Amino acid sequence: MLNVVQSYSAMTLAPTLRSLPPLGETPSTVRRVIDYMRISITDRCNQRCLYCYSENFNSWSARKDLLTAPEIISVVRSAAELGVRHIRLTGGEPLMREDVLTLIKQLKTLPGIESVQLTTNGNRLTMMADDLYEAGLRRINISLDALNPSLYRAITRSDVTPVLDGIRRVKELGFESVKLNTVLMRGRNQHQLMSLVHFAAEYDIPIRFIELLPVSFSEMLDEQNFLSIGEVRAELARHDSLVPVTEFLGHGPATYYRLPEIGATVGFIGALTDLHFCDSCNKLRLTADGKLRPCLGNHIEYDLKPVLRPAIDPAAIRMELQTAIKGKPLEHLFRDHYQPKRIMTAIGG
Ligand code: GTP
Ligand code: 5AD
Repeated sequence: MLNVVQSYSAMTLAPTLRSLPPLGETPSTVRRVIDYMRISITDRCNQRCLYCYSENFNSWSARKDLLTAPEIISVVRSAAELGVRHIRLTGGEPLMREDVLTLIKQLKTLPGIESVQLTTNGNRLTMMADDLYEAGLRRINISLDALNPSLYRAITRSDVTPVLDGIRRVKELGFESVKLNTVLMRGRNQHQLMSLVHFAAEYDIPIRFIELLPVSFSEMLDEQNFLSIGEVRAELARHDSLVPVTEFLGHGPATYYRLPEIGATVGFIGALTDLHFCDSCNKLRLTADGKLRPCLGNHIEYDLKPVLRPAIDPAAIRMELQTAIKGKPLEHLFRDHYQPKRIMTAIGG
């Protein structure tokens, strides 16, 4: 298994965006094991979330530029040889890709791959949950930024009903892991916090609150919209105690707490204010158009197309993977006036 031993500079906790401190200079040593690959299988999406797409966005990648299923499978096969154990399919909206079921089935058969997971906006879940289960998917994360239909529409420009039906269906089917993702924004969906927590408790689904990131438009990330996980925690603490959860709830960056009175499990993904967000980053991303991206918040990418086309070259893929892992930055650059050069959907959230 490939380990990356690196140093990082310490960060301090900041309650608001304006008071984010500069990165510190104190290096310490951190060991990161890269065993998780996030794959954006399409940049297309059937929602237009405020923080992701402009309402009329439609400049999608040409189909010929997207990796084919055999190309994705060869990259994962090589990645598994280097220690990657967990695969997450994302997008765009991964359920918009026609061969998503075939991809899941094939990925599950690869030696070394222990879990295949998927993150979806839930829009097509009512239609596809049974087929996904049939294809062998057992772990799914679903975005849910609001329960209130008009607020949900204001944020995503689409209907919440199929998403809620989809959530109920995956629970009925008995998926091993179902989690919710909420990007909380000040003054927009901030006041949905407690209803979302109660909804999550009712369905016994962990819900994670995510700090807004400048991954698509840097303009969204301003003091008016940004809500730190520190503030969310403080609000939750007014309603219940927060008991740290030590049990393993996934392979991502969230930290989890149990709210015993309410009966909910909440997670926090605080890439901007968490002191040690990058310390345990275990991830490598594969973009829809075939770039290895070692960090969401850094522009470094390694193009795999030359080792995939015209012919797939497994030895060369391995070398690119090793280079990307060695080139993984110590920390993301989101706190440093980061300007995204392309939207998140192509990169794979
Ligand atoms: P599990 O914990 O295994 O369920 O996966 P996950 O939380 O990594 O997957 P998911 O697709 O649900 O990601 C939720 C959100 O976490 C993403 O949208 C990002 O906002 C954030 N996130 C996940 N990984 C990273 C990362 O490597 N860097 C940053 N900055 N944010 C990340
Ligand atoms: N900041 C934080 N999270 C985001 N997501 C999409 N865009 C952003 C952003 N700008 C989240 C979605 C989804 C996950 C894959 O990424 O809500 O749950």
